[in-house]
Amino acid sequence: AIDPEFEDNREVVEEHDGHDVWGPVEEPETLGIHGTHVAVDFDICIADGACLEDCPVDVFEWVDTPDHPESEIKADPAHEDQCIDCMLCVDVCPVDAIDVDPG
Ligand code: SF4
Ligand code: F3S
Ligand code: ZN
Repeated sequence: AIDPEFEDNREVVEEHDGHDVWGPVEEPETLGIHGTHVAVDFDICIADGACLEDCPVDVFEWVDTPDHPESEIKADPAHEDQCIDCMLCVDVCPVDAIDVDPG
């Protein structure tokens, strides 16, 4: 599961589409955590898609991650600023790849 303390345990190493990426990042096999308020651990995501289907405000968008060992697409929190903290995505992700931190 994603580390709920990732902000203490990792460092921002790059930006992607307006949000932070928390390292380490070593493409293609290590991709880090995308986002801060809505954080998705790309190294855990298996592209289940439940988060994209269930988010009521369409926070997530698919991004291509060719040659990643878990899946070749990931749910990117492209619109994390729109999140209404319903926590559905956290509940439905089968591999607990998502952390949402209200407040
Ligand atoms: Fe979308 Fe709710 Fe997850 Fe926020 S907590 S990203 S609104 S499903
Ligand atoms: Fe990935 Fe979990 Fe969404 S596996 S696609 S973050 S439901
Ligand atoms: Zn991203």
